This record gives sequence, C-alpha cells and structure tokens, in this order.
Amino acid sequence: MLRPERIVVLTGAGISAESGLATFRGDDGLWEGHRIEEVATPAAWWRDPETVWRFYTLRRRALLDVEPNDAHRALTRLEREGPEMLLITQNVDDLHQRAGSGSLLPMHGQLRMLRCEQSGRRQERMSEADLDARVFAECTCCSTPSRMRPDIVWFGEIPMGMERIHAAIDALQHGDLCLVVGTSGHVHPAAGIAAAARSVGAITVLVNLDAPVNVGDFDEVHLGLAGDVLPELVDAWLKEWSDV
Ligand code: APR
Repeated sequence: MLRPERIVVLTGAGISAESGLATFRGDDGLWEGHRIEEVATPAAWWRDPETVWRFYTLRRRALLDVEPNDAHRALTRLEREGPEMLLITQNVDDLHQRAGSGSLLPMHGQLRMLRCEQSGRRQERMSEADLDARVFAECTCCSTPSRMRPDIVWFGEIPMGMERIHAAIDALQHGDLCLVVGTSGHVHPAAGIAAAARSVGAITVLVNLDAPVNVGDFDEVHLGLAGDVLPELVDAWLKEWSDV
C-alpha cells in the first residue's frame, strides 16, 4: 500500500477483549447478565436509576484492574510514526488514552466521566466516593447539587463528535486508509464508517476475530486476535511507507 495522506481508525470492544474487558454481543445475547434496555437506555435511567448506576459503577471500577494491550499500543505507534490520523472509538473504557493515543474521539462517551443532568457539564470523576454503587454522585456546578449520570451515549441517543467524524471522512482522498478493529458492525452510525470511507476512495482494512455483518465493506480482511495481528500490520505498513 502506498503511504496514505490520512488515516481514519474505528475501534470496538474487540480491541479491549485481550485486556480482559467483555465484548457486548455474547452468545447468550446478554450484556454482563443484563438485557441492553435494562441498563443502556435513557428510559432505564429514568425508570430504575439505581440499577443503571450500579451497572456503570461496576464498569467504571473495572477500569482500575485493566491495562492497554499490544493492539492499543500499535495504534499509538501508527499515530506517532504514520500520517495524520483520527482514532474514533466506540469503546467507553480509557485504554486508548492510557496507551498514549492523542487524536481520539470516544463517540459513545467515557466511563471516567459523569455528566450533570441539569447543566449538561461533564467532569472526570473517578474518586473512591464517585465509585460507590450505593450513592449517586452529585455535581459541583449547580447551586443545589444535582445527580450526575454516566457520560455514556445510550441507545436512542446521538453519538458524540458526529461533525468531526463526517469531516474526517470527507477529508479522505483516494488511497487514504480506513482501518476498523474489533467491532461486530451491528451498531450504527459507527457501522457505516467503512462504507462511507470506501465511497470516497479510501482503502478499507478490517482486523477482527471473526467476520462482522458488514464484512463486504472491506478491501482487506485480517481475521485473528487484534493483539497479534495489529502490531504486525502496523509494523509492515510503517516499513513499507518509509521505503518509498
Ligand atoms: N481481537 C479482535 N476482535 C475481537 C477480539 C480480539 N481479541 N475479541 C472479540 N473480537 C471481535 C468479535 O468477533 C466481535 O465481532 O470484536 C467484536 C465485538 O463486537 P461487539 O461485542 O458487538 O462490540 P462493538 O461492535 O464494539 O459494539 C458496538 O454496541 O452495545 C453497544 O455501545 C455499545 O459501543 C458498543 C456498540
């Protein structure tokens, strides 16, 4: 592949699987024992905030026990040594940040952050008190402190950064690269990014454990563990691009 001018990367839960975080679509159709509508919709938060808060507190706490893996680090290397890159992630963990990725867009929000329900202000809140599953965290921005919600894009809500995502895809030229890692291609709009990039002439490359539903949108498909496949791929690309 010739050296692209720009790269857009999309990652999903599969890239964090080797760090020990569960992916979403398990064989039983449940997400860590819950149906999605029980814990990941605005209606669930309205109906049963205690259950939703408990669920997200456990996930927020789980961040303290995991580390980035070789696949996260390979993308950091690609950003540092390769052409201009935007890394879009559907993941709400902080493993890309901790691996050193700079140009990062977490389109489904971040577990480390909470959002005031009144003002909409976001804060990074990971103190021990903020990780108590029995007590809601309160904001520091309102005169009467109000309850904060997880800063997560739930089903039925609009993903974050859509303008920036559209701009990055529009900026791709013929021969640029769109790399997708560890996502089953079920959830839109993320699942449409490869097709959109391809339609403007980008080369689309997939790294995933098994074929996702949108496998037909890719010019190159590498099936395997991201932690094995991605470092080799990035290494080969960087060599190839420095030789020309
Ligand atoms: N390396 C590469 N791919 C892997 C690995 C691995 N080690 N382990 C699993 N995978 C692949 C699976 O084969 C699957 O195709 O990662 C994919 C994970 O798919 P999902 O669990 O559906 O996760 P994702 O696509 O990120 O989900 C999208 O759905 O519930 C929502 O908002 C949530 O962001 C999430 C969105």
